[in-house]
Amino acid sequence: MRVLGIESSCDECSFAIVEDTKILKMIVYSQLEHQSYGGVVPEIASRVHIQYISVLYDTLCKKIGIPSHKMGDYIDGIAVTVCPGLSGSLMVGLNFAKGLAAVYEKPLVGIDHIQAHCYSGQLVEPIAYPYIGVVVSGGHTLIAIVHDYKTIEIKGSSIDDACGEAFEKIARALHLAPSSKMSDDTIISGGAIIDMLAKEEGDMFAADFPVYNMKKYGYNVSYSGLKTAVLHHREKYWKKGIPDTSANIVASFQRAAIIMITDRIKQLADESGIKRVALGGGVVCNSYFRDELMALQTSGHITQLVIPPPSLCTDNAGMIAGLGNEYLKRGYADNADIGVSARNTLYRGV
Ligand code: KG4
Ligand code: ZN
Repeated sequence: MRVLGIESSCDECSFAIVEDTKILKMIVYSQLEHQSYGGVVPEIASRVHIQYISVLYDTLCKKIGIPSHKMGDYIDGIAVTVCPGLSGSLMVGLNFAKGLAAVYEKPLVGIDHIQAHCYSGQLVEPIAYPYIGVVVSGGHTLIAIVHDYKTIEIKGSSIDDACGEAFEKIARALHLAPSSKMSDDTIISGGAIIDMLAKEEGDMFAADFPVYNMKKYGYNVSYSGLKTAVLHHREKYWKKGIPDTSANIVASFQRAAIIMITDRIKQLADESGIKRVALGGGVVCNSYFRDELMALQTSGHITQLVIPPPSLCTDNAGMIAGLGNEYLKRGYADNADIGVSARNTLYRGV
């Protein structure tokens, strides 16, 4: 079965064609328009989606080599993100999908973005259910048990900032030029800059930052206390006239931010006996995170570790189409009156 996927929940606009679990083609447009604002501006995000969505769809059709009026003969169904995310951005994608579904006379399924992140590892290699799904992105931080394609049990999530958001805020506060455009036109996030700086020059044991206590708070995590501690630490040094401690600060911050998650993965794997782990979200690109995950595998706490490539970790339509395929092949489709939801999730079957 071939499914067209559409993702527009935040500042990425993406289309993909997936056949079962194989991505045949995927395109992603990451909006640069928010750079000078220090964060995603919802109004701008929706406007940019409206401006480019049809252009991007035409690009996908050209890349596949099938004119858009013939796409109806090529695909069997359409999957689109409907929650959670920015309402305006979600509406642009959903309305576009509804139009295509009507013109091509194909079934349409609305997809939960978080569920899709948890599913994305299945596009890399088969993972037997149940497995531990971990999403660590700019908008979400959660650890869950994925019982099957439509049932996820969230064990814990961030009670305040998302992990990636904390990386971005620290990078900005330390003037590390987050989300800069590189000379080859690629975008580098604040998180990626911290990753590089920490790796090249940082001592991760230079400062001992607080980690949200798992014994006390269970699987939930928190980043606001860590962020404040990092900023106080920086002030202390800057007041002493020793400003150039950025590499050590970010390396120590990164260690605290990541072990907060890897400690919980280890605990959940030990407690549940589920030793398969699949990850999603942009922070999974972090090299220290990957090293720590691999250490968990080496020590036997986890037996199957699925870390998708960066293109499948960040927001993408491949995971939407892949999960859509699971619903559509079982005959499930949504009605034409389906709407979007900024927060509510669609964990069907729970
Ligand atoms: O999944 P994603 O596209 O997030 C949302 O749109 O929600 O990922 C973006 C996030 C940003 O917060 C960025 O700082 C972080 O992923 N990120 C990283 C790295 N690369 C991207 N964080 C830490 N280390 C990295 N190498
Ligand atoms: Zn996401």
